[in-house]
Amino acid sequence: MTRKKTAAKKHLQLDSVKKRLGKPFFESKGIAIYHGDTLELSSQLPANTFDALITDPPYCSGAPGSAVMADPSQKYCQSGKTLGRPSFGGDFRDQRSFKYWSLLWIAQAFNACKESAYGLVFTDWRQLATMTDALQAGGFCFKGLISWDKGGGARAPHKGYFRHQCEYIPWGTKGKVPRLIDRGPFAGSYSIRVSQPDKHHMTGKPTQLMQQLVQCVPPGGLTFDPFCGSGTTLVASALEGRSAIGFEVSEQYCEIAAQRVKAAQHGKPLHFQKT
Ligand SMILES: C[S@@+](CC[C@H](N)C(=O)[O-])C[C@H]1O[C@@H](n2cnc3c(N)ncnc32)[C@H](O)[C@@H]1O
Repeated sequence: MTRKKTAAKKHLQLDSVKKRLGKPFFESKGIAIYHGDTLELSSQLPANTFDALITDPPYCSGAPGSAVMADPSQKYCQSGKTLGRPSFGGDFRDQRSFKYWSLLWIAQAFNACKESAYGLVFTDWRQLATMTDALQAGGFCFKGLISWDKGGGARAPHKGYFRHQCEYIPWGTKGKVPRLIDRGPFAGSYSIRVSQPDKHHMTGKPTQLMQQLVQCVPPGGLTFDPFCGSGTTLVASALEGRSAIGFEVSEQYCEIAAQRVKAAQHGKPLHFQKT
């Protein structure tokens, strides 16, 4: 596809979403961010629009009754230091209600996806079985598991543990897996460390990892991230010539994501600076 045709396709798909959802919080060159709750926003999305759902929702992992485990600024920052990264909501559900809630948003995203679209959802070792259930109950055919190895710096509560070194990305498709001829097969495992300058969210994913994952989307195609946080999926999409729409309930993170996308589109990645 020529560059002109790719750009036209980008805007056509985005326009169909804007017709339903109105003016986004931020928009630039095929990337848009909407501020709000994903269940509310997704219920208005047009059907058969996205080439992929690629997202990193709150994991809601760990004992739900404990105040520490429900507070991301304590749960994800063992030293107690947030380094200025804002906390976030939605990480409080127990496993049963997490599965129910996940089914609701996955089913809405599934409806908004095109035939043969990919569905990739991050999770950890505790919620893996729950998330693979929700992915299938939401409509996707479960096709496999991608692992993300974070490296030896990953957490081990004490010496008796095998490190919790990997996070997982169960993946599926809406119906048949597309038979690609222009790219793939894609790696099923990635070893990429988190670098502090690239981490703008308490649970931010490496941009390099997301750049690999968006390869399943055709050039110029549209990705949906209903929990975009600091916008790593959106930044990766911009860098890889894809289009993307992100939803985020925290206005502070919408702003951070918008700044990151703008900087990436100008070829100057934004580096996180601790406060
Ligand atoms: C795990 S983080 C995503 C981090 C992202 N991958 C990054 O690299 O920055 C999940 C995000 O979902 C947002 N969130 C939680 N509940 C939400 C909801 N109901 N609707 C929209 N966003 C929500 C949180 O504010 C948080 O920023």
